[in-house]
Amino acid sequence: MQLQLLGLCILTIISTGESVKMVQLNIPGVVDPRQEKVMLRCEYELSPGETLYQVRWYKDGNEFFRYAPTFNPPGEDFNVTGVRVSRVDSNDTVVVLLQHTNIQMNTETEVGIGGTYACEVMEDRPSFDTKYDMGNLTIAVLPQQNPALGGLRSHYQLGDVLEAECTSAPSYPTAELTFYLKDIQVTKALTRQLPDSGRIDGKVVSSTRLELSLPLQREYFNASGSLSLTCRSILPGVPGAPYRDTKAVVSLRANNEKLAQEAPADSSSDVSVLVNSLFILTVVSVVLCSRHLMF
Ligand SMILES: *[C@@H]1O[C@H](CO)[C@@H](O)[C@H](O)[C@H]1NC(C)=O
Ligand SMILES: *[C@@H]1O[C@H](CO)[C@@H](O)[C@H](O)[C@H]1NC(C)=O
Ligand SMILES: *[C@@H]1O[C@H](CO)[C@@H](O)[C@H](O)[C@H]1NC(C)=O
Ligand SMILES: *[C@@H]1O[C@H](CO)[C@@H](O)[C@H](O)[C@H]1NC(C)=O
Repeated sequence: MQLQLLGLCILTIISTGESVKMVQLNIPGVVDPRQEKVMLRCEYELSPGETLYQVRWYKDGNEFFRYAPTFNPPGEDFNVTGVRVSRVDSNDTVVVLLQHTNIQMNTETEVGIGGTYACEVMEDRPSFDTKYDMGNLTIAVLPQQNPALGGLRSHYQLGDVLEAECTSAPSYPTAELTFYLKDIQVTKALTRQLPDSGRIDGKVVSSTRLELSLPLQREYFNASGSLSLTCRSILPGVPGAPYRDTKAVVSLRANNEKLAQEAPADSSSDVSVLVNSLFILTVVSVVLCSRHLMF
């Protein structure tokens, strides 16, 4: 062991090709715009025997902070749009960004701290070997609930128009809503986007609503007369944000005459079962994922 270590040291001294062993940038992927301080951490390991020359930080390719332990003061920040460094909180492995506390996120032109960050670690002379790592930071407030799906009845007849309304939970940016019938996306022509809530209570988050008017056809229901409708909310431009689904199941009215005559095209063998079960079909309305559904 001792011998190996000695060997390593000798190797390091005679080899000028050694470089920083590793650099790993640790940043929060999603940051709430209301968070005042955001810590980015750059972990690195110098090659044996080497000392640190400097660490440089970039946002979207522009250097905004440099830390060189032998300089006085060691930390220096540069004017990069959207970034403000707290110098007292920053050191060789950590940089702390300050966000505007009273942020007005309404304007598209608002430049926040969201972007691609890189940290570059350079060893001291003679090698000045350098390694870097990159990562993305996105400004967002993830919704805390699934969307609310309302306006539905438990039973419908063929020819009825199913009306539904889906409301997203507050988020930043505003969610995008989509209806799915079974697993197929409902065409936009059948939906109507209602104006979003605006910034709720003057805060950064807002919610949005989407209405559906769907003239019912037999093929929307399965063999036992159930129709499954899902409202999905996604956060646009927030990679890694999970989508949220709320699903509701409604039924064809048991005494629907048309239903008995119109067998579903894809399951002709099920017709007798279907007709038999028609009269024992009871109210089935299941709400998954959400308690917001009101009948
Ligand atoms: C930073 O740069 C912007 C324009 O690029 C300029 O308007 C602003 O005054 C600069 N701030 C400082 C502190 O130099
Ligand atoms: C740099 O700051 C971080 C966070 O405050 C702290 O954990 C770390 O020990 C500091 N490093 C040095 C070398 O002071
Ligand atoms: C960061 O985002 C850009 C697009 O904005 C993408 O091309 C890149 O792969 C992302 N990098 C990481 C590390 O996720
Ligand atoms: C029809 O859909 C309902 C609700 O999703 C389900 O419980 C039932 O098993 C389905 N029936 C058939 C025949 O697929």
